[in-house]
Amino acid sequence: MKILVIGGTGTIGKRIVEHFSKDHQVLIAGRSSKDYPMDIADTRSIKRVFKKIKKEGKVHAIICAAGEAKWAPFKDLSETDYHIGLRSKLMGQVNVVRLAKKCLKKKGSVTLTTGVLADDPVFKTASAAMVNGGIHSFVQAASLEMKKQIRVNVVSSGAVMDSWDKYASYFPGHPPISMDKMMNGYIRSVMGRGTGQIIRIYI
Ligand SMILES: NC(=O)c1ccc[n+]([C@@H]2O[C@H](COP(=O)([O-])OP(=O)(O)OC[C@H]3O[C@@H](n4cnc5c(N)ncnc54)[C@H](OP(=O)(O)O)[C@@H]3O)[C@@H](O)[C@H]2O)c1
Repeated sequence: MKILVIGGTGTIGKRIVEHFSKDHQVLIAGRSSKDYPMDIADTRSIKRVFKKIKKEGKVHAIICAAGEAKWAPFKDLSETDYHIGLRSKLMGQVNVVRLAKKCLKKKGSVTLTTGVLADDPVFKTASAAMVNGGIHSFVQAASLEMKKQIRVNVVSSGAVMDSWDKYASYFPGHPPISMDKMMNGYIRSVMGRGTGQIIRIYI
């Protein structure tokens, strides 16, 4: 398979790239990528990269492990702060799905990334939790209309082991998710046949 990983240099993306590179061709996109420079908050850059990939040969799967949202106490979150998550993690991933067919083979898959905050939010996450929940609803609804063309799923994991130093204090009593367990979510989405699935990995 040929697989595009958006955010393939990040904590989660690196593991995805490492896993799939063993048996597949993997392309990495991101803001600092030289070959496939893409900011998912900028629709034109998504289109540019997808057009380039179409010329080179379409991919069988797109995985997005990128997207930002502002973490701050609810009383401090401005409207502008909310727009960071809406533009990047929410609409960025929605636009990846909207435009996917430009570079994705028929019956290919798109896998998005959210996180446990959608179901079990913690302090400072009004914006991040909202965005994750929006993506879950989007995936369930949009996949209904694309069943014959492409599969769309989302992996929603708890804070992962490789980020635990950074996030442990925000998630009291939550278990860190091993990178292998997290990876299984992406494997299920890419290699399985499911669509419209929210693949939750919380324990
Ligand atoms: N870490 C966790 O424990 C955890 C758990 C569940 C869900 N998540 C979610 O998973 C996603 C990735 O998390 P992470 O911890 O791996 O983040 P990370 O380590 O900060 O990596 C983010 C990756 O995405 C790319 N990126 C960031 N913003 C982008 C944009 N606007 N357009 C294109 N590429 C972009 C970055 O590369 P460039 O800087 O080159 O663009 C990098 O490769 C996030 O949405 C996060 O909320 C994380």
